[in-house]
Amino acid sequence: MISPAVRLADAAARGPYDGYLPAPGSQPIARVDGPATPLRRAERLSPAWPLDRKVGALLDLSLAAVPGWTRPRRVPSAGALYPVDAHVFAGGIGHLYDPIRHRLIRQPDRPDRPGPDGVLVVLSLAPERTRWKYGSRSLPSLLLDLGHAVGALAAAAAVVDLECWIQGDADTGPLSALTGRPHSLVALHLAEPAAGPPAWELGGDRPRPIAESGDLVTDALIELGSGSPEPTWFRTGLPRFTDDVLRDRRSADPPFTGSLRSADLDALLAGTPLLAATAEGLRDAQGPVASGDARPVLAAWAAGQGFVADAAAVLLYAAPLDDYRQEHVRAGLAVHRALLGAQARGLRARAIGSWGQADLGAALGRRPGTSLVVHGAVVGPATATPTGEDTYA
Ligand SMILES: Cc1cc2nc3c(=O)[nH]c(=O)nc-3n(C[C@H](O)[C@H](O)[C@H](O)COP(=O)(O)O)c2cc1C
Repeated sequence: MISPAVRLADAAARGPYDGYLPAPGSQPIARVDGPATPLRRAERLSPAWPLDRKVGALLDLSLAAVPGWTRPRRVPSAGALYPVDAHVFAGGIGHLYDPIRHRLIRQPDRPDRPGPDGVLVVLSLAPERTRWKYGSRSLPSLLLDLGHAVGALAAAAAVVDLECWIQGDADTGPLSALTGRPHSLVALHLAEPAAGPPAWELGGDRPRPIAESGDLVTDALIELGSGSPEPTWFRTGLPRFTDDVLRDRRSADPPFTGSLRSADLDALLAGTPLLAATAEGLRDAQGPVASGDARPVLAAWAAGQGFVADAAAVLLYAAPLDDYRQEHVRAGLAVHRALLGAQARGLRARAIGSWGQADLGAALGRRPGTSLVVHGAVVGPATATPTGEDTYA
């Protein structure tokens, strides 16, 4: 069931462009003050490192800005707005991660919790960063960015030999009590291999619910914060990429023309719920789903981004949106995996987050609303082939 505020915010994002433009000079700046602890970078990785050193490497490979810059970062973000903040709890002490200086900032007045072992990372959203650029169309982008951050952390955990358990459907009340921030939506538990799921629960005192804000996106996030009555821990099952893949990932610029080797496409789809639209038709990890070239329609749905129409492959995550928060996080995670897979194979890729009225199920003759495009990516060969000179392998 989608609640009213979420339905409205989704409709605003999927509806026609409302004419909103960001006010120049008013972009929110993420300031992080307080005593800072510098972190190690992920150089000469060793599985024998102690947990605290692994945490530095993990954050370096997942969320850090390229040293000396505020962007780009290891993780992609819609509009390069980076609305996801990471709060790190280790040894009973809470810190906020500063991705630009690669430091942990001690957070005063935070409860000295939680967890007997391991490290807890809580991800919170600062919606104003995304809303500055996209206005009332921001809700899906915020949640997809959250999914990419989860994927980036899980992929980095595998590189530094840490086990990573994720809870994406917890009540934000206890998580926000830990971080001091509203919209604290995801918890990741990091521990030495074979530690198993965390033994503790993210329960505890719930602060009073936040009053309705009157802002569409904030109201939707408040409603999505109530979470599931029985939150669960899960693992992503991401393949293990090399540290170079995580460090070097970047969004390629258009065009994405040409064709992919079928072995590459198979590898990007394997073990994922993604669909791929190519000139030949639509397929998933199991095989063909429909014939015909869907890419021009996909380009029209994707706010008219023309390079979608002639990309070698358009990867799609489609789902019903009954579980709005979880489906967006899963979509961000699945597309992040595909971006890293493309990087590992020397392919060029870029996430595509704006999908308008893209009801893929209805287009394929199924019941409307059962298979809406939530997220996607364009993928092309290492060198784009000029349109009209495609080669087929
Ligand atoms: C959720 C999400 C949605 C995105 N949507 C688009 C899009 O619709 N069109 C586009 O050209 N790039 C899109 N991008 C790519 C971002 O513009 C890119 O990640 C950002 O500029 C940072 O650059 P980098 O990925 O090279 O680090 C999206 C990225 C994310 C994570």
